[in-house]
Amino acid sequence: MTDEARSAQAFVEALDAENQTLLRGLEPDDTLKPEVEGALNVPNLLKVALRNEIEATEIAARWLVTTDDVAVKLALARQVGDEARHYRLVADRLRELGFDPEAVNPLATGFGPLFQYLDGLTTTVERVAAGQFTREAIAIVKNRQFIEFCERAGDPETAALYRDVIEPDERFHHELGRRLLLRFATTADAQAAARRAARRTLELADELQRKALATAGVHHAPGC
Ligand SMILES: [Fe+2]
Ligand SMILES: [Fe+2]
Repeated sequence: MTDEARSAQAFVEALDAENQTLLRGLEPDDTLKPEVEGALNVPNLLKVALRNEIEATEIAARWLVTTDDVAVKLALARQVGDEARHYRLVADRLRELGFDPEAVNPLATGFGPLFQYLDGLTTTVERVAAGQFTREAIAIVKNRQFIEFCERAGDPETAALYRDVIEPDERFHHELGRRLLLRFATTADAQAAARRAARRTLELADELQRKALATAGVHHAPGC
């Protein structure tokens, strides 16, 4: 193994550990003991999921066309397809639950702050650190909380959709981020930029979660 490869590997392991520590901030006990009240129900959380999935589709597509690296292009192309499929699966599930997904425009209020931040990143190492390695790690935590929520709410079908179909894809996207980071986070500068992007992504996710909790009582919307 070259020094660069060894350095990248140590960095990715350290970043993973830091992310996991900070992610525990996204799962306070009360989010693990969800209480259904008022509008906090599976269909409304699935509508939040539509927004997350379309944003994930769009950002991967934008990054696909602004990189010249074929491996990165193909990884993003796969992600575009996966996230678009998640959108359709969630829309289908909403329809089964008696809601018309076409009556929902998830982009009615524009793209959110996390999307805007990701859209401003220009280097591949920052993009994969933020968009794949970190954002998808967040999605894994949020989806786990959502699956528990669905089970408690008596909706094993939605829980199974997330556990068996969507979750394995999000895990794959996170692993994709890991693989690309190993390739791109080989210098001190690249590693510093990647770490900054990962931190900011977690901060934004945390802020969004607090805001959602404060304004709508939403604390276990699925990720993407
Ligand atoms: Fe994803
Ligand atoms: Fe997704």
